[in-house]
Amino acid sequence: MVEFRLPKNSRIKPGKVWPRPDSARVREYQVYRYDPDTGENPRIDTYFVDETDCGPMVLDALLWIKNKVDPTLTLRRSCREGVCGSCSMNIGGLNTLACTKSADDFSGAVKVYPLPHLPVVKDLVPDLSTFYAQHRSIEPWLQTKSPEPGTEWRQSRDDREKLDGLYECILCACCSASCPSYWWNGERYLGPAVLLQAYRWLIDSRDEATGERLDNLEDPFRLYRCHTIMNCANTCPKGLNPAKAIAEIKKMMVERRV
Ligand code: SF4
Ligand code: SF4
Ligand code: FES
Repeated sequence: MVEFRLPKNSRIKPGKVWPRPDSARVREYQVYRYDPDTGENPRIDTYFVDETDCGPMVLDALLWIKNKVDPTLTLRRSCREGVCGSCSMNIGGLNTLACTKSADDFSGAVKVYPLPHLPVVKDLVPDLSTFYAQHRSIEPWLQTKSPEPGTEWRQSRDDREKLDGLYECILCACCSASCPSYWWNGERYLGPAVLLQAYRWLIDSRDEATGERLDNLEDPFRLYRCHTIMNCANTCPKGLNPAKAIAEIKKMMVERRV
């Protein structure tokens, strides 16, 4: 049988085991570490967090480690309440937000990795440049041709409700980083997060660029690489369903042809 092995420089080495605090409630964290400037392979460091001295969420534990044990640990975060989308990472095998994931959801060691299948800038920080460029490419802002109204672009209550399940997206990229089609074709397939955003503008009753938006998506790769595997909906920390939004865009494509 053919045996595949990762290239030498991507194999993960065992890392440092940091001191264990003297406390009745200690939780083990195994955290991915990688610094491209050192030229060394990634490693997994083991930390022990004193849960009597730290908040309940995984982000609290990571900040406790950074503040009290190892200031070199690198991660992104801002709001610490599931709003900014900065602290997305892979925790216990699931792409999620560190600030809304409780350490109590895990028994045993909590394993923390960066979002998968993206280049790593450092430790838990993935490079999202392509993701953001793809978001820019769908022109995520209101586009109109009618003369500007004197006050505001109005929308009926029913039309506003069509944006529910879409406007809540915080662009954390958990879904795109869990999508096998995005893993293999991330440069050309827009992925679930960006397509959900595209649909959000397609069905906004105030937007007048629907035709151009659909033209922009009519491409064998940008839209049609979704194979309805549903990882995106299963992982979204905001409970959204990008696969459904993608199916709706495909329906709009068919409807405009008839
Ligand atoms: S759809 Fe959900 S998982 Fe995907 S980017 Fe938006 S909030 Fe994150
Ligand atoms: S349903 Fe589509 S977008 Fe969602 S994970 Fe599967 S292939 Fe990716
Ligand atoms: S810190 Fe903002 S979503 Fe987690």
